[in-house]
Amino acid sequence: MSPATAPLSHTMPGHHGAVRGADLNRRSSSFEGRFGRMFRTLPAAEFDEKILLKLGQAMTSAPDDKPTPETEVDDEENTGISAGYTYLGQFIDHDLTFDPASSLERQNDPDALVDFRTPRFDLDSVYGRGPDDQPYLYRTDGLHMLLGAALKGNDNDPNARGLPRNKSDGTEPARALIGDPRNDENVIVSQLQAAMLRFHNRVVDTLDSPTFEEAQRMVRWHYQWVVLYDFLPTIIGKDTWHAILPHTLKGTTVLQDPPQIKFYQPQKDAFMPVEFSVGAYRFGHSMVRPEYRLNLKMKDRLPIFSTTGDSLVGFRQTPDNLAIDWSLFFTMGPASKSGPNRVQPAYKPDTSVVNPLGNLPPSVAANPASLPQRNLLRGWRMGLPSGQAVAAAMGITPIDDDSLRVGKATEADKKTNPKLKDISPLFEENAPLWYYVLAEAQQQFVKDETPIHLGEVGGRIVGEVMVGLLLADSHSFLRQNPLFKPLDAFKSSGGDFKMADLLKQAMKA
Ligand code: HEM
Repeated sequence: MSPATAPLSHTMPGHHGAVRGADLNRRSSSFEGRFGRMFRTLPAAEFDEKILLKLGQAMTSAPDDKPTPETEVDDEENTGISAGYTYLGQFIDHDLTFDPASSLERQNDPDALVDFRTPRFDLDSVYGRGPDDQPYLYRTDGLHMLLGAALKGNDNDPNARGLPRNKSDGTEPARALIGDPRNDENVIVSQLQAAMLRFHNRVVDTLDSPTFEEAQRMVRWHYQWVVLYDFLPTIIGKDTWHAILPHTLKGTTVLQDPPQIKFYQPQKDAFMPVEFSVGAYRFGHSMVRPEYRLNLKMKDRLPIFSTTGDSLVGFRQTPDNLAIDWSLFFTMGPASKSGPNRVQPAYKPDTSVVNPLGNLPPSVAANPASLPQRNLLRGWRMGLPSGQAVAAAMGITPIDDDSLRVGKATEADKKTNPKLKDISPLFEENAPLWYYVLAEAQQQFVKDETPIHLGEVGGRIVGEVMVGLLLADSHSFLRQNPLFKPLDAFKSSGGDFKMADLLKQAMKA
């Protein structure tokens, strides 16, 4: 059967598209998650395939033959969010949700779908099923994680290591030996995964003779802390963050001022809402840049994908000169504003996705190979309500049709971006949720320098689900030790513990 005629779920041997994990054993103890709906009573938004493909096309920017040099201001960059958060976002996604089973060709019932990741911040993508069940992820002491080959290029990280891999026989790729194959999808997320392995080892070496479970718990809690107090305010904005977590505004504790969750209310067990996994949380696709500098030794930045030359594509032995200098991705100290050693900003969360994501390599997904089209089709097939319906259900005035535009949030494009309703009248007061969440973020745009984060609808979905999942997890620090604080030895001089501080510790391992 040719890929073009095969049912979508059997076309690719890949990971992040149709068949990701389709060969995995459902009876395994880690497959306890499930999908569900946050807004059960809202009707599914009606579209047709043709107009969604057209919108996906319109959301894909034109190929950029001449990327803006690092010494000049790129108007697609977001002054509010640095590029590391895009990949931290992808890493978190892989920890929480994995749907290798739904189809783009028919309607799917979320209640009948299995989430192949536990919807918990438990780093199952790092630990797999633990040292007893998957010993090949661990050193023989059963305490430390195995690391991969040495990587060069960052003098500040002489111990840099990639992911552990099996040996390539020359015909097969050197597959990463990790808890979630998707964390080898690109060279950046794969090194973030490697950094988490090193952070685990650092915790093992810092604690006093810990058991594996003690070290794992400490790692998870530090990671959860980063999600709650660094990732969330960065992505959803301080206002929504304070509204969901009032103790962060009042300077009290989470026990004195508990989280305010209005819409994510699991009746029994926690579940992964499709409004999050198929709608709001795919915001990150619009923050991906077309090319990145990984370290200062690289002559030039590398594109995320390329059909003609080197790129940052994953699922292979990481080239040994590509050690990531994390200070080019997160603020880790004083940095210059421009030039190769600046902190690279993420692209803006807007209704435009960079061109290479409109044509994914076959190792990532195919049929369609366009990520925006896949997102829109998946949302429709999963029966998501429209963005306007979700806004109204939240008591928020929906954005009017004249303000819903398609394209980049830049001064240059603002005036010519078409209206959504001009792509098809079917979109009148009926916007796909993923599009809407991005369009909502885009409403903040005033000038190219304006920082942009998710708006109220997107921010509420992302914030409530993340906090809700932490509260529902009887092993999270919010449940087991709500007054937990990161280890003093790991905090920055200002007393914070952010992703940048986690990475600094990882580099000591
Ligand atoms: C770096 C480049 C990235 C690529 C190439 C990529 C690619 C993909 C692909 C092919 C899918 C499956 C689409 C489908 O068939 O429905 C997917 C799903 C998804 N992506 Fe990404 N992605 C990237 C980054 C991100 C980021 C930065 C985020 C969030 C911050 C994100 C969030 C998600 C989510 C939530 C899903 C659904 C996961 C599931 O439930 O199975 N992705 N991505």
